[in-house]
Amino acid sequence: MMNPVIASIAVQPGPSPERAYTIHVGRDLAGGLARDLRAAPVGERYVLITDEFLRPLHAEPLAATLRAAGVRVDTISFPAGEANKNRDTLARIIDRMVELELGRDGAVLALGGGVVGDLAGFAAATYQRGIPVLQLPTTILAMVDASIGGKTGHDVPGGKNLVGAFHQPTAIYADLNLLDTLPVVQRSTGYAEVVKHAFIADAELLAFLEAHIAELLDLEPTATQRAILDSIRIKVDVVSADAREEGRRVLLNFGHTVAHAVESVSGYRISHGEAVAMGMVSEAALAVQRGLLDGEPLRRLQRLLEGFGLPTSIPGDLSATALWNACRRDKKVRAGRVHCVLPRRAGEMARPDRGWSFAVQEEELRGAFSR
Ligand SMILES: NC(=O)c1ccc[n+]([C@@H]2O[C@H](COP(=O)([O-])OP(=O)(O)OC[C@H]3O[C@@H](n4cnc5c(N)ncnc54)[C@H](O)[C@@H]3O)[C@@H](O)[C@H]2O)c1
Ligand SMILES: [Zn+2]
Repeated sequence: MMNPVIASIAVQPGPSPERAYTIHVGRDLAGGLARDLRAAPVGERYVLITDEFLRPLHAEPLAATLRAAGVRVDTISFPAGEANKNRDTLARIIDRMVELELGRDGAVLALGGGVVGDLAGFAAATYQRGIPVLQLPTTILAMVDASIGGKTGHDVPGGKNLVGAFHQPTAIYADLNLLDTLPVVQRSTGYAEVVKHAFIADAELLAFLEAHIAELLDLEPTATQRAILDSIRIKVDVVSADAREEGRRVLLNFGHTVAHAVESVSGYRISHGEAVAMGMVSEAALAVQRGLLDGEPLRRLQRLLEGFGLPTSIPGDLSATALWNACRRDKKVRAGRVHCVLPRRAGEMARPDRGWSFAVQEEELRGAFSR
């Protein structure tokens, strides 16, 4: 039988070896996951947490495979979408875990996009002071970004991801076959983070993306595999040895100071990936204003994002004042100042004299908002 695993990538998030984990990337991984859980159980039993859209589509088939292999699993689902990544949904998940009498020897399987990964990961981080979680990402965005690195949490009325915890997964299984059901808009939003990884660290991947937009949106297997694997490797490289975002990991926030403000001010009408596209163009424009970046890489970034079908202009109904106020509430504020990471060329970020991010002023950021 063909080995369904295409690559196994090791992540070493911190200095202590016991927290290392593996990302298995492949096709048709359910049987392998069942065998792994039988051979080396992560918990005595499992709760599979997913959203209601994915429940019949991918969660029930997976639960059936696991049960057939003798793995005990109960499923918990909540309505799909960012609007539900909140404390009410979290409370319902936790109450259900208590009802199921899940003990400290239980573990969570988080099957879904970034919303499921963040919320189920946070439930695992806090339930009975923390139980293990396996991340089973089903979107491109979650495979290359959200499932990796241990950030979990949810949104509160005052802002995006303002409550959370670091909780590294025990393992990640990224099954590329699950992407076949992904609507085109979710493919586009996933490529926002792939483009981000390329723009901050890999000019070669950036050129590959430019040359293969149509195949990638079409999920052509060879191109998709290459883009996803390269993107995962960039994220792994950047989060390795910086589990708590004290150093280079902040580079992954490119575009995100503005993106989180856009998401929050729009009431989450604008998705994370779309907001990241708008945010990267705005923050790259700020780098151009400061003379750090030439105009050409900014235009290249904008063309590539638009090629992937992503919006790059912030809608006019989101006021600059509201966006600035949201930026000031962001987690990236240090000593009362809003920070951004800024590019110096396609594939490379600029380094300020100290740290990795630049403090920015209200006027200059407002002037860079892409409209
Ligand atoms: N923790 C992190 O480091 C990190 C990093 C990046 C993004 N995020 C978070 O991730 C979230 C965005 O994630 P997302 O874009 O995956 O959104 P999502 O989880 O909302 O998924 C998007 C939609 O696609 C559906 N879907 C998922 N997989 C599918 C599949 N295989 N087939 C068909 N439909 C499918 C879902 O049901 C949902 O309706 C945001 O909340 C963002 O803050 C977290
Ligand atoms: Zn992001």
